Amino acid sequence: MRKLINILAISGSLRQNSSNTKLMNAIIALAPENMEFTIYGDLGNLPHFNPDIDVDDGPPPIGGLRAQLKEANGVLICTPEYGNGVPGVLKNALDWIVSSGEFMNKPTAVISASPSPMGGDKAYDSLLLTLKMMNAVIVESGTMMIPHIGLKLTTEGVISDPETKEELLSLLKALEQACH
Ligand code: FNR
Repeated sequence: MRKLINILAISGSLRQNSSNTKLMNAIIALAPENMEFTIYGDLGNLPHFNPDIDVDDGPPPIGGLRAQLKEANGVLICTPEYGNGVPGVLKNALDWIVSSGEFMNKPTAVISASPSPMGGDKAYDSLLLTLKMMNAVIVESGTMMIPHIGLKLTTEGVISDPETKEELLSLLKALEQACH
């Protein structure tokens, strides 16, 4: 039997109808049985990063984020791009982790998905810079920019583009292997 792997899945979009959240759920549905996913649900509830309030375990939702990251064997992030950058809510969450270090050596897969032809490349590049600064292990073959997301994912959240589906399966395999 293959080793059970826990992945913390984070969508960088708070939007109810988010294509990135739908994509994240579609990826989870594609994953092999030994990969268990926990969807991080508190991104919109985190206080603004302020080192002054980062004492002891930090404010309660921060302790929860740090604990979930610590327990996870790996992380999957799916994010949109806003204003040529990483969405503020996601960057805020990452800022809380810089000093506590839970991303250190953590295998991390990164996807940016956008309706634009650029695939959210600026958010993608910026996110990788931040994660590398925190010594996350960016999984080789575990990163993707997905342009024209509306042509590849149905409104019901089904991956309709076979090539994208294949690439996502490879990404999952790479993440699984990195977590062993
Ligand atoms: C966007 N969008 C966008 N897209 C992009 O590729 N680069 C960008 O810089 C921006 N900037 C931006 C700013 C604002 C204020 C909005 C509302 C939107 C478009 C964005 O990618 C699109 O709305 C996605 O659908 C958002 O992702 P989710 O919520 O569907 O996951």
